[in-house]
Amino acid sequence: MPSLKDEWKEHLLEVDGDGHDHPKMEVRNLRRVSDAGVPILKGISLEIPKGVIVGVIGPSGSGKSTLLRALNRLWEPPSSSVFLDSQDITHLDVLSLRRKVGMLFQLPALFEGTVADNVRYGPHLAGKKLTDDEVSKLLMLADLDGSFLHKSASELSVGQAQRVALARTLANSPEVLLLDEPTSALDPISTENIEAALVKLNKNSGMTMIMVSHSIKQIQRIAHMVCLLVDGEIVEVLEPQQLSQANHPMARRFLELTN
Ligand SMILES: Nc1ncnc2c1ncn2[C@@H]1O[C@H](COP(=O)(O)OP(=O)(O)O)[C@@H](O)[C@H]1O
Ligand SMILES: [Mg+2]
Repeated sequence: MPSLKDEWKEHLLEVDGDGHDHPKMEVRNLRRVSDAGVPILKGISLEIPKGVIVGVIGPSGSGKSTLLRALNRLWEPPSSSVFLDSQDITHLDVLSLRRKVGMLFQLPALFEGTVADNVRYGPHLAGKKLTDDEVSKLLMLADLDGSFLHKSASELSVGQAQRVALARTLANSPEVLLLDEPTSALDPISTENIEAALVKLNKNSGMTMIMVSHSIKQIQRIAHMVCLLVDGEIVEVLEPQQLSQANHPMARRFLELTN
């Protein structure tokens, strides 16, 4: 089973400090077969340590989005195949799971109304009303200033909307953030803003993140470890700087084509 180097684990245990040595999330032999009987995920196993940014790369159609979507039950994984803090996620309440394991997609889907309406949505469902001040703080975490508070969601650029979507997700106080190519529809400046916000969140609050990206350079900028997914299988787990040393022939071909 691919897993992190021992030095990494020791380092993470040190910074973790809660005395628990379980990974934040764990995937064990996760399989998915399409309705037509085609295998999509062929027994994925992966440990995601707390506080780490994990990059996931691989050719289109290799199962990256399918893997990510299992982690907060956008599709229902088989029981005993995905764990959060050692708990089988299929045994958890699905809405509280999705608060703890938030997700950001390639294109932000904001609701009609103001930026503040969007950011307040999650807490509102949980019976809590955020003050303007609290909303502004969340916007700041997503690299937006308070002047956006009362703007209409429909007047934002896609880059600004993606940062509002990030603030909306952060309003649920997630412990893990799933990011499915969150910058691939954005211009380079907006990409930089999102990357900066993610790195800061990870550094300051130790948020665990799993990020699918088609950009190897992006993964090298922000991730601590990289999983190479090919044809429904994790074929390599590497540190970002070792990507050029990938051994798997399909992984090598993919890296040569995209680097
Ligand atoms: N709900 C589904 N039903 C059938 N096939 C699917 C479904 N979702 C994804 N697939 C197939 O699974 C494979 C992996 O898809 P996906 O996870 O979206 O790949 P990636 O994100 O790496 O591009 C693709 O061949 C896709 O067509
Ligand atoms: Mg995808």
